[in-house]
Amino acid sequence: MKILITGINGQVGHALMRELTDHELIGLTRQDCDLTNSDQIKQVIDQHQPDLIINPAAYTKVDQAEEEPELAFQINRDAPKVMAEKACEYHIPFIHFSTDYVFDGEKEEAYVEDDPTHPLGVYGKSKCAGEEAIQEVGGLNYIFRTSWVYSNISHNFFLTMKKLSQERYELKVVADQIGVPTSNQFIAEQMKTIIPQLHDNNTGAYHLVSDGSCSWHEFAKQIIGQTNPQFNLENLHAITTDEFPSKTKRPKNSVLNNAKIKQTFNLEYNHWQGELEKVIHEA
Ligand SMILES: NC(=O)c1ccc[n+]([C@@H]2O[C@H](COP(=O)([O-])OP(=O)(O)OC[C@H]3O[C@@H](n4cnc5c(N)ncnc54)[C@H](OP(=O)(O)O)[C@@H]3O)[C@@H](O)[C@H]2O)c1
Repeated sequence: MKILITGINGQVGHALMRELTDHELIGLTRQDCDLTNSDQIKQVIDQHQPDLIINPAAYTKVDQAEEEPELAFQINRDAPKVMAEKACEYHIPFIHFSTDYVFDGEKEEAYVEDDPTHPLGVYGKSKCAGEEAIQEVGGLNYIFRTSWVYSNISHNFFLTMKKLSQERYELKVVADQIGVPTSNQFIAEQMKTIIPQLHDNNTGAYHLVSDGSCSWHEFAKQIIGQTNPQFNLENLHAITTDEFPSKTKRPKNSVLNNAKIKQTFNLEYNHWQGELEKVIHEA
């Protein structure tokens, strides 16, 4: 299968390029295809004539999005819409990634796919608008919502905690936001199993996260405990969201229920802690 993948220098794009090697891959960087340029997106798809388009590229700077809403909407809503339209034109599937931030985090239990969306900030609104735009286009569309993505590349919570634990004696991490840490490699491995099963009877939205859940503080404890034995975990302090001011309000409960994806695609999952160990050993 000829697969066109955007954002290959990002966490998920990078892992997909590494994992989907049974296929003919056309990996696109920002230089190859700027997602703010609709004509270029169309041109690149026409040029390569792929059998499948995967779009992990996105505007992912949650706080900065508050200052650049137009850019965030161009990349997260308008670009995927163009890709979905092109996929429709060629009768090929389109895989798009979205986020737990389409929800407001007020629900008590884990979110299922059909729960009403209510994003809190510009980033979440732009991703939510992207989902809606794709769904309006129709066709063989798949939206995989994931959360708390980390890896050994780029900028993410895992690398930040590893670094800060080397530099500081004491750390404070938010303990009243919960979610599911999900590695880029886990996402890519699941996509490898899912792609051969894409069929016009299983299009739609899915929650693609590991099993289990935790707070940022618990995640930090596991990361530091396993990567930096010199750091005294008694100096890793749990704080509340109010004690860690940021430009954007984050959902308190970001936990996504992954039952639908497991059942539809017959997937066996691993607890997030097992996935974390894999990422640590891969470094
Ligand atoms: N990171 C998370 O915690 C998280 C959580 C939930 C959902 N998600 C979703 O999961 C997907 C993958 O996220 P990720 O963590 O892999 O993101 P990432 O590491 O931030 O990578 C995003 C990629 O998009 C590219 N990009 C940004 N603007 C572009 C433009 N104008 N033209 C072309 N490419 C552009 C970036 O290119 P450069 O390398 O040139 O900057 C980068 O390679 C996204 O849909 C994201 O919304 C992420």
